[in-house]
Amino acid sequence: MGSVVLAISGSLRTPSFTEKMLDLCIDGMREKDDSLEVHRFYPHTMEIGPCTSCWSCWGHKRPGVCAQKDDFEQILDVYKRADYFLLAAPLYIFDFPATVKNVIDRFFIDLMPSQIELPSGGTQHPKRFGRHPRAVLISSCGFPEIENFNLLRQHFRIICEHMEWPLSGELLISAAAAAHAPKLFDRKYEAIRKAGAELIQGEITESTTEAISAPVIPAEEYRRMASLSFERGITSKVKVAAIAIKALRRKDGTG
Ligand SMILES: Cc1cc2nc3c(=O)[nH]c(=O)nc-3n(C[C@H](O)[C@H](O)[C@H](O)COP(=O)(O)O)c2cc1C
Repeated sequence: MGSVVLAISGSLRTPSFTEKMLDLCIDGMREKDDSLEVHRFYPHTMEIGPCTSCWSCWGHKRPGVCAQKDDFEQILDVYKRADYFLLAAPLYIFDFPATVKNVIDRFFIDLMPSQIELPSGGTQHPKRFGRHPRAVLISSCGFPEIENFNLLRQHFRIICEHMEWPLSGELLISAAAAAHAPKLFDRKYEAIRKAGAELIQGEITESTTEAISAPVIPAEEYRRMASLSFERGITSKVKVAAIAIKALRRKDGTG
C-alpha cells in the first residue's frame, strides 16, 4: 500500500519506553503494509524554534509560509503527504513534554485566519493544506492509575478535532516502571503490535486498546516497587524482584 507515516518520538531520553511502544506499533503496521514509509523525528534533537506569533503565515505576502527557516520544515514536508500521524510522548506533568508542545504549536501554519463553526459547535479555523492523517497518541507514565492520562487525552482529542486529524487510537501504559520486571508487560507489547496491524486494516479495537492499558500489578504494590527502585543496595533490588515475581505469578494464575 505504501502509506506514509509521520512519527514523532517525543521522549528526551534513550532508551525510551514510549519509543519502544512506538517501535512495536510500527512493527505491527509493517506486518500489514510492507512498503510503509516511516519518517521519525526527535524534536529535542532538532532546531525548532517556538511559534513567535508573528502572524506572517496568515499575511497576504506569503500565506502558509513560516517566517522561521528551521527543522520544522522537515516535519511539515512529511506532514503534507502523511496518511498516519503517530505522536509518541511520555507524560510530563500530566501533559506533553515542552519540546513536543513546541512542535504542535508550529502546526498553526496549517490553519487559515478565518473563523468557522465546528461541526460539534464552537469555533475553528479552516485547514490550509487539506491533510487529514489518522492520528494515534502513544504515551506512558510513571504513576499507576490510567486516569493520569486524562488531561493529555483531552488535550490530544481537542487538537485532533481542530486539526481535523481523525483520532484513530490511544495506546497508553501507566505504571511504566514495571517494564523493568521481566515478562510483566509481554502481553501489552503483543497488543501494541496488534494495534498497529489493526490500524492499517481499519480500526484499533476496544479489546486491543484495553489489553494495552489494563493494570498488571495492584497500585499499592507498584508504588512500593517504584519507590524501592530508586533506593541503593541489593536489599531493595531483591524486594523489587520479589514484588515483580508475585505480580507475574498472580497474572499467570500460579500465585
Ligand atoms: C519531567 C517529568 C515529568 C513527569 N511527569 C509525570 C506525571 O505527571 N505523571 C506520571 O505518571 N509520570 C510522570 N513522569 C514519568 C514519565 O512519564 C515516565 O517515566 C515515562 O514512562 C517515561 O517515558 P520515556 O522512557 O519514554 O521517557 C514524569 C517524568 C519526567 C522526567
